[in-house]
Amino acid sequence: MARREWFWPLVLFFLLAALLLWPRPEPPKAMEADALTPVAEGTKLVALTFDDGPKARTTAKLLDGLDQRGVKATFFLIGAQIEDNRELVLRMAQSGHQVGIHTYDHVALSDLSESDMTAQVERTRQALQELLGDESFFLRPPYGLVSDTVLRHAQTPLILWSVDPEDWHKRNVQREVAHIVSHVQDGDIILMHDIFPESVEAALQVIDQLHHAGYAFVTVEELFAARGTALEPGQVYRYCPPPG
Ligand code: NI
Repeated sequence: MARREWFWPLVLFFLLAALLLWPRPEPPKAMEADALTPVAEGTKLVALTFDDGPKARTTAKLLDGLDQRGVKATFFLIGAQIEDNRELVLRMAQSGHQVGIHTYDHVALSDLSESDMTAQVERTRQALQELLGDESFFLRPPYGLVSDTVLRHAQTPLILWSVDPEDWHKRNVQREVAHIVSHVQDGDIILMHDIFPESVEAALQVIDQLHHAGYAFVTVEELFAARGTALEPGQVYRYCPPPG
C-alpha cells in the first residue's frame, strides 16, 4: 500500500519537471527590433531616410514592412501633410523611427529670406511638437539646398545623404534596388521617398538584401551616436563612416 501512495505524486512531479524543462520556441526573428542601441562594434550600419511624406497609403505600407522586419528608419516630413496624417506620424514615433523636418511646403530654403526660412522650419517643428511632445527635430532641406542663411539660422543639424537612387525619377523597383545595393557602404545615408509605391517596394527589397549582407538599419540619430559623433546645429552631414 505504501508504494501506491508515492505513485501519483511522483507522476505529477515528473510532469511538472518536463513542463518546466521543455524547450521554448524562439521568438520569431522579424519581431526582434533591430534595436541596435547600443550597436556591437564592427557592425555595418546604414540609415534609410524617406522624404516628402507622410502620404496615407504608401507610408502606411512602408511602416508595415519596416515593422515586419524590425527595421528603424528616418522620416523627413512635409509640415502641410502632418495634420491629415496624424496617426501615421504617431505610429512612426511609437515604432521607434526618427521623425524630422522637410519644411512646411517643400520649398528650397536657399531661396528664402531669414524670416521666411525660419517660418518654414518653425511651423513644421511646432506641428511635430504638438503631436509628439519632442522639441528637437533634424532638418533635411528640400533638394539638399543650403545657404549661409540656412546654416546660420536652422538651429538643428542638416541631414543630407550619400546614396541617391533618384527614386522619384524613373520609378523602377529593380533599378533602384540595384543602384542602392551596388553603391552602399558602411555608414551611408540613403535617400528615398515614401510617396511612391515603387520606392516602398524597393526599400523593402533593399532591406532584405542588405540584411543578408550583414547590414543593420538604424535611424540617423543612432548612426551618429553609435560612432560617437556629436551632431551640431547648422552643420551639414551626409554619412558617418566607421572610425579608422
Ligand atoms: Ni523633398
